[in-house]
Parts: sequence; C-alpha cells; structure tokens
Amino acid sequence: MTDQKPVIELLIAAPRGFCAGVDRAIRIVEVALERYGAPVYVRHEIVHNRFVVDSLREKGAIFVDELDEVPDDAPVVFSAHGVPKAVPNKAAERGLTYVDATCPLVSKVHRQAERLVGGGYHIFFIGHSGHPEVIGTFGQVPQGNMTLIETVEDAEKVAPADPDNVAFLTQTTLSVDDTAATVAVLKRRFPKIIAPKADDICYATSNRQAAVKAIASSCDFVLIIGAPNSSNSLRLVEVAEREGKDAKLIQRADDLDFEWLRGVGSLGLSAGASAPELLVREVVDRIATRFEVIEREVETAREDIAFKLPRGLEAA
Ligand code: F3S
Repeated sequence: MTDQKPVIELLIAAPRGFCAGVDRAIRIVEVALERYGAPVYVRHEIVHNRFVVDSLREKGAIFVDELDEVPDDAPVVFSAHGVPKAVPNKAAERGLTYVDATCPLVSKVHRQAERLVGGGYHIFFIGHSGHPEVIGTFGQVPQGNMTLIETVEDAEKVAPADPDNVAFLTQTTLSVDDTAATVAVLKRRFPKIIAPKADDICYATSNRQAAVKAIASSCDFVLIIGAPNSSNSLRLVEVAEREGKDAKLIQRADDLDFEWLRGVGSLGLSAGASAPELLVREVVDRIATRFEVIEREVETAREDIAFKLPRGLEAA
C-alpha cells in the first residue's frame, strides 16, 4: 500500500515576481558583459536577490560597494535602486565607462525632487531609512532640502521652517495602505502641500500587493519569495499579515520549513519584484514532494510594461 500525500491547494498570485525595472537592470548587466566582455563591475546588488546576483557573478559581473573599488579601465553599472548624483559625477571625473540601471520610475522621482527643490519647496520623503533608493533620492538634491518620513508619527511631528512651501514624494516600493495613512496626515497638517501628480508607488508594487491581498483571504498561510533586504517583498508579507494570515518570507525552496504547513489546506504563494519565476517553480516542486498540489493562479491584473535599455546599449 502506498502512502497518500495530503492535498494542498496552492493559490499563486499574479502578477508576481520580476517587474519591468528589475528585468531591465538584469538585461543591462548581461548586455554590458556582451558588449565590453568580463569583468563588468556592478555597484551594489543590481537588484535585491541573491540568486540573480550569483547568476550574474558566474557570467563575469563583479559586485562592489563603492566606486573606489572599480579599476579605471573597467565598465561599471549602477543598480536599479538609483544612486546619488555624486556617484555618476565621480565616475565621469575618473573617465569611467558607466551604465545607469536605475529604474525609470525611480529616475522619475529623482527629477521631481530636483524640480521641487528648484521651485523652493522642502520635500518630505516617505520611505525607509537606509534603503538604497532613499539614499539615491536624497542624493539628487543639496543636503537639508529633504526630510525622511518613515511613519505616521513622523508625519505628525515634522516641523518644517516654512510649512506653506512643502511637498512630498515617496519611495516606489512602499505599502500602499501605510503610505495613504501617512499622506493623509501630511495633507491635514499642511493643506498647501504639493503632492506628486500620480502616486510614486510603482505599478508593480501596487499590483503585487493587490494580488496578495486577493489570495490571502482564501488561504491559511502565505509564502512570499524574496530577499530579506527587498522592500517590496517585505511589504507583501505585511499585506498577508494584515489580512490576518501567517506569512513567511523565504529566499528559495531550501528555506521552506514544512512545519509551517502542518494543517494548512490552502496555501498562498507570491514573489517580490526581484525574485525570478524559477524560484517560484522550485518552491512549488518542493511542496509537491510532500503534498498533492492543486495549483491555481489568481490573476488580479495584467502587466505589459517593458522599459527600453539606456541609449548606447539599445542596439546590442
Ligand atoms: Fe522599478 Fe517598481 Fe520595479 S520602481 S524596479 S518597476 S518595483
């Protein structure tokens, strides 16, 4: 007699995984490797995913923390999260060949920051301290022109020199719900505040959060594939938890603890914007070693956004 595996229903959120900005950043490194040959230096993790970083390293990318570590004759790529202005300036000063893989949606926020400061506004930047995107955006304007707002409490306390000349911008990968609460406080306290034309939380972040919200209510447990330093992946875990469900962030199948799935009849699965689909399939296959999996994809939006490569790499 053969042991029957327990049945688990697997609800897979769609959209999930790679966004257009991550896809573009990875292609930039690959095309740079083809164009210039290995090694190509990359300042910071090109995207927050160890699997992606390791695969590019195998192809000849060298990841460094700072520009000082890049030799004069080697090309360098800047990560998708964006960099302070000082970085390309320094690269140009040294005569380095560099390619900026900053996501175009992050660059859009950078340009808005410059325009607002140019117009005499002080900016409240809603984001998470220490995240490379935040460091990059702060580095677009002279120091003292931007204040980081991490929480609703920060929004309640902030005291700008000229409350009539303020604006706000946001990190692209925040929680849609938390950000709305913070923005509401800022708008109440500063009625003249300038808001960005459209929300800066990017389409991929909002879509992935909405998809997790949609599956979480029907699941007993939710797994999110992503890196612990990936802002948008962490937000997906929070979205599931807010729906009252236990949720865990895993980097790949090896992190899966089957104890979590004890008594689980319906499991939700999604992946952050920097996690490749391969890792989703790996997790599904691992679950299938212990369960009879009934897989169902729940699609809440269709995405067909793709970003062009930077000029110069396009033809490759
Ligand atoms: Fe860009 Fe949004 Fe992805 S800002 S890198 S498209 S998560």
